[in-house]
Amino acid sequence: MIITIVGGGSTFTPGIVKSIALRQKDLDVNEIRLFDIDEERQYKVSVVVDYILKEMNSPIKLTVTTIPEIAYKDATFIFAQMRVGKYEMRIHDEQIPLKYGCVGQETCGLGGLAYGLRTIFPMMKVIDDVEKYANKDYWILNYSNPAAVVSEACRVLRPNARIINICDMPIAILEMISKCVKDASDYESYKVDYFGLNHFGWFTSIDYQGRNIMEEAKEYILKHETLLPEVYIEKIKQTKSEEIVRHVSNSWLHTWASENEMLKLFPDYLPNTYLNYYFLSKESVAHSNPTYTRANEVINSREKNLFEGVDHYLKTGEITKEAFYHGAHGNFIADLAVSIKNDENKEFIVIVENKGIIPNIADDAMIEVPLKIGKNGPIYAKRDAIPLFYKAMMDQQLASEKLLVEGAIEGDYLKVLQSFSLNKTVNSANDAKSILDEMMEVNKAYWPTLK
Ligand code: NAD
Ligand code: G6P
Ligand code: MN
Repeated sequence: MIITIVGGGSTFTPGIVKSIALRQKDLDVNEIRLFDIDEERQYKVSVVVDYILKEMNSPIKLTVTTIPEIAYKDATFIFAQMRVGKYEMRIHDEQIPLKYGCVGQETCGLGGLAYGLRTIFPMMKVIDDVEKYANKDYWILNYSNPAAVVSEACRVLRPNARIINICDMPIAILEMISKCVKDASDYESYKVDYFGLNHFGWFTSIDYQGRNIMEEAKEYILKHETLLPEVYIEKIKQTKSEEIVRHVSNSWLHTWASENEMLKLFPDYLPNTYLNYYFLSKESVAHSNPTYTRANEVINSREKNLFEGVDHYLKTGEITKEAFYHGAHGNFIADLAVSIKNDENKEFIVIVENKGIIPNIADDAMIEVPLKIGKNGPIYAKRDAIPLFYKAMMDQQLASEKLLVEGAIEGDYLKVLQSFSLNKTVNSANDAKSILDEMMEVNKAYWPTLK
């Protein structure tokens, strides 16, 4: 059984490999292949991956390649997590909108749409290569962002592909909750309900052993004015652990605190943290440093620690604890693969075509909901209609994402401008146009031609 990781040079690859290796027996996996178009970057990451497998005495063979045929031949699972344009382009995604006073974020607002325009066609290439070389019953589990746009493009352009688009934010929120509320650390056994779009959804219930954890989490948030655990707040200055460093960075500190701001406004559900960019756009802009955004933070923390860790290992044979992060992100995708492989029908929050799941949302919307997942993929289950406020929010965002995908496929500038203008993070269509034009310039090597 072969698992291929696309975007082998990603900062998340070591953690994902560790999660796979920990489930070696359940997955019956005997080979992991790393595939990337950046040979040098992937080589560096593969040094750590090789160390992890050896240290675990894992029987899994490691192959590192930039050739699609070698990457996908006879593979069963493909875990995709590529970042088209890398951090260099993420800086533009975040900083160009900020120049015009609009939200600067990699997956939300106009930055997310720009990233979407870069990723749609490379993702189709991955699917086509997989179809050509992999096992006929392959599954692509896709983390590559922006997942909302990528999943809509897959639906339109490759409707028969065996792909499940996923996001780790809901599970990351549950993990945070498990560290905030008392005696509920086993977040993987929470029973949750959730609905929305990717990076645009709400928990409607979280139960654990008969306890209403959602209410306990809300009380914690309102009391502490954030969803960060006390221990993270205490350790802000003294730790190098990526897990904590990440969440107490300038950007994520604000994100976790925004949970409090949103709850004070709309106390009925528990919002995904990403909704702050839509509900609190002005505050997000005010808090951002227009010349030092999350991309810069990542370059100077997660990426830096990883590559310094590689250098240190090559010199000394030792890996420092800070070199890579392992946790919920890798566990989530590996557990999903286990559920498919062994037909376990466990529940995961995934992005799927609505097809009637939410009755008052369009059938062809790509929505994010918990569903049981077995060997044939997601098992559909109908839900109740959602309240008007949430439906209206989702419809507007869906229209923005759908117009973007249509614009990309048709090379239609006007549709892309409509997509940018419809996005809730933008006040003026003139700003949308200025941002689009500037982004078109820096994305020349990546975007489809728009006329
Ligand atoms: P990264 O830049 O460290 O790694 C991305 C890798 O993708 C790079 O090595 C790059 O060379 C490679 N790549 C770029 N274009 C490619 C292509 N066409 N084919 C193959 N490989 C290609 O980025 P990162 O911060 O580690 O994140 C990786 C991806 O995972 C991003 O898309 C990120 O947004 C996504 N991500 C998603 C979630 C989620 O919830 N869905 C969570 C975490 C990360
Ligand atoms: C969460 C989201 C991902 C996103 C990531 C960014 O995990 O679910 O979709 O890619 O955050 O994290 P970063 O540390 O790169 O800002
Ligand atoms: Mn996500």
